[in-house]
Amino acid sequence: MNTNTVLNRQEQQHIPVATKIAVAKGDGIGPEIMEATLKILDAAGAPIEPEFIEIGELVYLSGNTAGITKEAWEIIKRNKVIFKAPITTPQGKGYKSLNVTLRKSLGLFANVRPVTALSPYVHTYFPNMNIVVIRENEEDLYAGIEHQQTQDVVQCLKLITRPGCERIIRYAFEYARAYGRKKVTCMVKDNIMKLTDGLFHKVFEEICCEYPEIINETQIIDIGAAKLAAHPEQYDVVVTSNLYGDIVSDIVAEVAGSVGMAGSANVGTNVAMFEAIHGSAPDIAGKNIANPSGLINAAVNMLAHLGYTAVAKKIKNAWLSTIEAGYHTSDIFQKGVSFKRVGTDEFAQEVINRLGSVPEQLPQSDLKQDGHKIKIPGYHRKIQDKKLVGVDVFIDWQGDDPEEIGQELSNIAAFKLKLKMITNRGVKVFPKGIKETYCTDHWRCRFVAEDSIIKRDEPVYMSIEYEQVLALLSKLHANEFDVIKTENLYEFDGKRGFSLGQGE
Ligand code: NAI
Ligand code: MG
Repeated sequence: MNTNTVLNRQEQQHIPVATKIAVAKGDGIGPEIMEATLKILDAAGAPIEPEFIEIGELVYLSGNTAGITKEAWEIIKRNKVIFKAPITTPQGKGYKSLNVTLRKSLGLFANVRPVTALSPYVHTYFPNMNIVVIRENEEDLYAGIEHQQTQDVVQCLKLITRPGCERIIRYAFEYARAYGRKKVTCMVKDNIMKLTDGLFHKVFEEICCEYPEIINETQIIDIGAAKLAAHPEQYDVVVTSNLYGDIVSDIVAEVAGSVGMAGSANVGTNVAMFEAIHGSAPDIAGKNIANPSGLINAAVNMLAHLGYTAVAKKIKNAWLSTIEAGYHTSDIFQKGVSFKRVGTDEFAQEVINRLGSVPEQLPQSDLKQDGHKIKIPGYHRKIQDKKLVGVDVFIDWQGDDPEEIGQELSNIAAFKLKLKMITNRGVKVFPKGIKETYCTDHWRCRFVAEDSIIKRDEPVYMSIEYEQVLALLSKLHANEFDVIKTENLYEFDGKRGFSLGQGE
């Protein structure tokens, strides 16, 4: 019998070919909620074949600081779909978060976290909330580039890139379009971080015009997060960078009832990973009381992503019916509303019992096939004119009088460079600082071309050669200054590519 005949017969009999997926049982409550979820998938006839992978705590503690084995990588690369329970990252000792590693190594740039209220069955003050948080997944402070630079000062590098912003923001609008959503809200803090968050905001402004049918708005993250907590019904799709997205998606899930309810999809061009938004909850692990709903919802999204929309809907409707029937785990149990407090296993069994049912009060699943349908165009870098106009030299200096280091550096400055200012923790302390400003041992000293025109509103910088910087560094070293790092100051197409000092 040739293969075509086999496939045709399978098609005729509606037996879908099983798709192999990489499955990680995770740590803490991971194995319990994964077992419960896989049971449901099996009972629903989801055409998937799990290939289990070893990742997480045990792998870390066996001496593998990445937390993932070579075999696991092979299975992931082969299957391109990962279904993952939460894992525990051991604290300290230089263990890198495996979640972050997976998301970044596999280019899973979009983290999609839909949260819907299920009132009155799950208690929330906001029965009409229905939000999707789309979180940038690879960049920002989660690049994890951190350094101790002086005895008193540590730093974390916040990396925001234009291709990263374009991808995630376009994804948010494409998602809104595909799912008939009306509004996309961008959340940033560009009143403070004018370059990094400013870029995110600027790209949002550029891209939103291409989607005139979708309302767009931008909010500053602090008030945005507060409003999300107080008036979540006013939001639809929220797009934001990695850290803010991590925070606001937990807020949204908790406000809707429980962090245990929401699933998430980590989407890339070739690979996708599906998981609950919560962690491994070690406080309740092994007790059979965890809510498996977050992972069940992640599984539903995974099935939709794979094109198995019918079975995804069947599971989602059975899950909604179970919630509606009042079978609730402890995290969402309410006296007088819930019918029975159930454990992880029993909850899964109740979902299985309802496969084929649809909820009577709650809206039925309107799931669409998703994920791979959203195509993001490749990035085209426009060549810009880049001009070196100065250097910020960071110095570890144990003194406490800015005038002293200021005068010394002014005297040392040479090679047609001059000291423009010194800041301490971003605040200008030289020239003409305020004596109240607290100074630590981390001094940012800005050198620019001698002939730069320093006006108060917008200085005009002259270009310099990198050799001047090297010569200056050499001289600083010879004068026993402890240079801990430098940042070059550039203009791109004539626009200043660095921030001014506070009070500059
Ligand atoms: P967590 O989300 O594990 O727990 C926070 C609180 O929510 C706890 O009180 C917990 O009992 C409760 N909770 C979480 N999921 C629940 C569920 N399904 N049912 C009922 N209650 C639930 O966050 P936490 O405690 O900050 O982190 C614990 C560990 O999880 C850490 O090692 C962390 O690194 C890891 N983590 C892993 C993630 C992942 O694998 N994607 C994501 C977030 C944290
Ligand atoms: Mg989180």
